[in-house]
Parts: sequence; C-alpha cells; structure tokens
Amino acid sequence: MRIRYIIAALVIAATPLAAQTPIYLDENKPVDERIEDALSRMTLKEKIAMLHAQSKFSSSGVPRLGIPEIWTTDGPHGIRPEVLWDEWDQAGWTNDSCVAFPALTCLAATWNTEMAALYGKSIGEEAVYRGKDVLLGPGVNIYRTPLNGRNFEYMGEDPYLAGAMVAPYVKGVQSNGVATCVKHYALNNHEVNRHNTNVIVDDRTLYEIYLPAFKAAVQEGGTWAIMGSYNIYKNQHCCHNEYLLEKILREEWGYDGVVISDWGGTHDTDQAITNGLDIEFGTGTDGLRAGTTNAYDNYYLAYPYYEKILCGEVGTEELDAKVRRILRLAYRTSMNRSKPFGSLCSDAHYAAAREIGGEGIVLLKNDGDLLPMTVERDAKILVVGENAIKMMTVGGGSSSLKVQREISPLDGIRERFGEIAEVVYERGYVGDVTGEYNGVTTGQNLSESRSAEQLIADAVAQAKDADYVIFVGGLNKSDHQDCENTDRAGLGLPYGQDQVIEALAAATDRLIVVNVSGNAVAMPWGSEVPAIVQAWYIGSEAGHAIADVLSGDVNPSGKLPFTFPVALEDVPAHIFGEYTGVSVRDTVDIEYKEGIFVGYRWTDMQKKTKPLFAFGHGLSYTKFEYGKPVIDLKKMSPDGTVKVTVSVTNTGDREGQEVVQMYVGDRKSSLPRPVKELKGFSKIRLAPGESREVTFVIDSDDLSFFDPEKHEWVVEPGMFDIYIAAAADDVRGKVSFEL
Ligand code: BGC
Repeated sequence: MRIRYIIAALVIAATPLAAQTPIYLDENKPVDERIEDALSRMTLKEKIAMLHAQSKFSSSGVPRLGIPEIWTTDGPHGIRPEVLWDEWDQAGWTNDSCVAFPALTCLAATWNTEMAALYGKSIGEEAVYRGKDVLLGPGVNIYRTPLNGRNFEYMGEDPYLAGAMVAPYVKGVQSNGVATCVKHYALNNHEVNRHNTNVIVDDRTLYEIYLPAFKAAVQEGGTWAIMGSYNIYKNQHCCHNEYLLEKILREEWGYDGVVISDWGGTHDTDQAITNGLDIEFGTGTDGLRAGTTNAYDNYYLAYPYYEKILCGEVGTEELDAKVRRILRLAYRTSMNRSKPFGSLCSDAHYAAAREIGGEGIVLLKNDGDLLPMTVERDAKILVVGENAIKMMTVGGGSSSLKVQREISPLDGIRERFGEIAEVVYERGYVGDVTGEYNGVTTGQNLSESRSAEQLIADAVAQAKDADYVIFVGGLNKSDHQDCENTDRAGLGLPYGQDQVIEALAAATDRLIVVNVSGNAVAMPWGSEVPAIVQAWYIGSEAGHAIADVLSGDVNPSGKLPFTFPVALEDVPAHIFGEYTGVSVRDTVDIEYKEGIFVGYRWTDMQKKTKPLFAFGHGLSYTKFEYGKPVIDLKKMSPDGTVKVTVSVTNTGDREGQEVVQMYVGDRKSSLPRPVKELKGFSKIRLAPGESREVTFVIDSDDLSFFDPEKHEWVVEPGMFDIYIAAAADDVRGKVSFEL
C-alpha cells in the first residue's frame, strides 16, 4: 500500500507542471507569457467579445477557457448598488449597501496623501468584497468653472495637488486587486453639451494644467485603467482620440493599462479600432431596443469590427493589442488569485470616512473665535436649513449610492450636544424635496407647507435666544446643483438661502454657516456672519464629521482645493465669454482662452481681484507661526536641487495640523508664467508650543514649463522665488536662488 502511494507521489512530482496547467493559468509563469498563451487559444469571436460590454457594467471573459468577465462599478465615493443586466433600474439586492466616503473635493481638501491612501484602501476593500474588478474613479478633471456640476467628483483646480492626491488613492484601491479607472480623460470640465463640446486648448495649457494629474495617476499611481471622456478634442471624441490616447497616454507616458470608454462615449468603429480604445461601454445601453437578439453585438467594437476583419478591411494587429491589454487587466484583477477578500461596511471603513471627512472640512472664517462651540448645560442650539436633514448620498448622477447608513448634520449635532443642551431644528427654506436616483430612494419626507416668509420668521424667532445658531445649507445633488449632466445656473446659493442667512445674521451674533457643496458659492452675507465652515458631501459619516469639527473634538485642518471667487465675473472661464451653459445639438467649440491662468494662477495675476477665499485657505483652532525660510544654496545647477527649510510653531493652546505650502515663481521667462505655482506641501501635526522644520527639495522639474514649440518641458536660467505659504494669498516667507 505504502509503496504504491510513494510511487504515485513520485510520478506526480516528476510530471512537468506545464502538462497539468496551461501556461495562461500558471501563476508561476511571467504575465507576458500567460497573455500570449491565452491569446493563442482564442477565436476571433472570443477576442471581439472582450472588447465591449455584455451588460450595463460588465464585459465578457472567455467562458470556454475559464477567463472570467470584468465587472466594473461606480465610483468614486462608494460602491454603486447593483442594477439590472440591461437597465439602470435597481436589481433589488439587499446586500449591496455601502459606506459612502467623502466626495473627492473633500479628500483633496485634506491635503494629506495618507488620507488619500486610506481612502483608496478602504473603498478598494468594499469593491473587492462586492466582486468588482474595476472601480470607475477617481476623477481628476481640473476645476475650471464653479458652475461645473461634477466638480464634487474631482480634486480641485491645481494639477500638482490633484496629482499628489490621486496617486495614493490609486495604489490603495489597486492593493486590493481592483483597478482604478481614472476619469474623465481629458478636458471634461463642464457638463452642458458634454458629448458635443470640442475643446480648443493650446498644448502648453493641456500639458501644464489639464494632464498632470492623469500623468501622475499613470506614472506614480500606476493605474490599470483610464476612462475616456465624452467631449471632443481636436475634432475627435476623447474615447477614441489619437492624440490623447495613442500619442500622449501610450507613447509619451508608457501606459500599459486599458482604456475604457465612458458610457456612451464611443461613436465610430474605425477610430475605436485605431485610436486606443480597448473596451466600449454604455453605447446606446437602451440598445436592446435595436431589436436584435443581443444589442451588445451592435456596439462599434462588436460586429461592425468583426465584419471589417472578416472582409479584410482591417487586420487583427490592433485587435490583438487590445486583447493583450484586457488580459493584462484580468491578470491584475479578476484572475488575481492572491488578492484579499475585502470587507463591506466595516467599522474601519466608517472610521476612515469620518476621519477623512473631519480632515477635509475647511474652517473659512472664525471671527471672535466663535468656534469651537463651548456648550454649557441647558444651552440652546438652533440648527436651521434643509441640508441639515437631507440625505446627500442619493443623487448627483452616476456617483449616487445606496448607503447602509448616513448620519445627517442634525443627527450628528444632536448626538454630540443633545445630552446637555436643547437642540432645536427649523427648516429655514425649502430646497429640493425629492430624493431618488435610479430607483434608490432616501425614504425621507421633506414636504413642507409653510411659506418662505413664515419659514424665515420661525427660524428668526428661535434664533433670538439661542446660544448658537448653525445654518446648514448650500447646494445638493439635484439637477443644476452638484449633479452630473447639468451645470449650475449661477454662483449664488439657490432656494432663497441668502435671505435666510441675512435674517439670521440680523437676529444673532452667534451664527455659524455650514456650507455643504462641492463647488464655490457666492456669499454676499459673508461679512455679517462670524463663522463659516465649508463641509462638502461627506457621505455616511457627514453628521459625525461636522459635529467633530464644530465641537472642537477635531481641530480643522482642511484647506481649499480651489478658489472661492467673489463673483462669476472673476472667473477667467467666464470672463472670456466662451461658456454659455446653453444646451445645443451641434458640436460647439469651447476655447480655453485663459490658457494656463486657471484659479489662483489667474487671481495672482489680476492683482486687483481678491478672491472671497483663496486656494489653500483654511483656518485652525490654534495658530501657527512660520519662521523665516532658509535656502541651502544661492545657485542651483540644472541637474541639482535646492533645499528650502522653514520652521513652523504651534503658538496656540491646542494640538493642530497645518498644511505648509511651497510655491515656485519664475521671475523672467520667454513665455508668460504664473506669479507662483504649487510645487510641494506638507501636512504636519504639532502639539501646543511645538515647532517642526519642514524641508522642501526643489529640482529643475519644479521650475520648468512646457514649451509648445519644442514639445517638451524646459527650464530657463534666471532667478526663481520660492514662496512658503499658508494659502495662495497668505505668503509667510520668500527665498530666491539663481539657476
Ligand atoms: C459617467 C461616468 C460613469 C459612467 C457609468 C457616465 O455617465 O460619466 O463617470 O462612470 O456613466 O455609470
């Protein structure tokens, strides 16, 4: 008996592994070899099937070979609930609720790359647990106009900040064997006419402002997928755009991942074949109405491509290249046997959401140190405003979620102070009482019968004897607010909120305004309100994070990732009159005439236009003093570096975090340059009285600009200034050197 077992064991051991496991399934073989082996076994039809959707969110694998499907999900703030195979309606699952993490504007406002890593890791865990291979996010389109309905899904106006934050997010997600699909590449900077806007932008602006965050996602984050955007550039849709996808993404950046179309962003088979698209999604996903047995066969990269190959009109070189890239994605995700199991709605994920939310909230103004709240027993706290009670995780377009729970600001404030104080609520105004997206409903009844005047009168009556009045308003996720596929009508707050705030400000000097939005809003009442907090869409833990900051349990440390202008007339995208916001059917050219002067680059140049709140602005409950920055060299060689060190001291009486910002300015150059550009930042935590030195290392990349003639980054010799700042409008020290 025993001898028989030993012989059998010897036979198995002597059998070459390859005879048992085909190369494409053999994890010990190099990926390239596995890809070639898989490719060699596939039929033409099987290859074509991989290039396009088979349902709303999945594409085919090769069932015969045991190569699984690819499952995608939105993205970017939580894992979207399951929809039916061919429809947007809910599949009706009961196990697809998620944790909603803060919107990406809030993440960017943390200015903390560790928060981005935590975010990525956590949302990636939810994605892998839910069986997803590709997370459709994060978004890094630059904040060009405050009217863009999708700014809340992006990381602000500065390419350096967005690039620094996107890379750790990508790595965090992908550490779970789930690909990020960084979107929307590129130049998708507003929503109206998003399918028919042809962006005209010069090369320098493209490379300096609109591409760096994508490049960082590719080269530093190592993203495995990228989503082409809806709009047009150089008269080609971006999902099959030769210049963006072939020339820049693949040739210049060496990208080895897949390009996925935005849903319905593919328009042409020939361009889709040659111009870099790998997987087509969402084309007429009402496609079943086409009347064939399988509408997905009618996709541009389905039968139309197959037929072109069969009749010899095109070869199979591009096809094989696409399939290779998709197989690589599969090995990284769906066929990755060593990926973790992930977890859903875990305590750790709620804790992460709360921490990121707390770090991203920005204290814009705090006259007389009204905040943090010091609440005595039997005090009265009045909370006013629809956004104090409205669920914000439903709506806004494809990022809409079905959450396991969402703590409203009012609930968070009640939980924090309710035991010792009386917390009273008044509506103040009626905004949008609906709460539904694709069949997910908030279940909230927000109906209200009082008139606008009565609502104000009732709030004012309660405000008079309140120890604190907290107005929670802003925008919401309905059309023409912060919502995909629409843009805002103006910079002002909707629903008559300005009148409510003004009436409250007249009734009390204890007013705190908490603005919930993903965009800058006008604040005509700004000077009358002592404390203003920018709170974003924080997701599941919104109320907790807001109460953490109001109470001082968390010392605010967020800084604005974009400029708050006083008026729309101060925004260059609008000054030049290109953006009309009017929906049209034909292709419409939008020229980015302001060039590189976006956000603070514009306000810095227009010395007379002061922003309402500058890029990088954010207060703390403690104070930070900056020492004089010191530079190690007065002259830098082109291949060398200079080091700038600054000492920062917490001179207040509580622990806090400060974001020390480093901007570079070129005194003289052959092309116009911004006064200064962000090239480094560091978030430090200091105990009361503690000092720390922060050192920035600057190399020639930080000094360069993109020369459109030479088509390369160049540095010109001369004098450079390094600004150490607490905000774009709050420079604390300057040093200079010569290159
Ligand atoms: C959006 C994408 C999203 C996709 C799938 C599109 O409308 O632009 O951001 O990932 O839908 O829901």
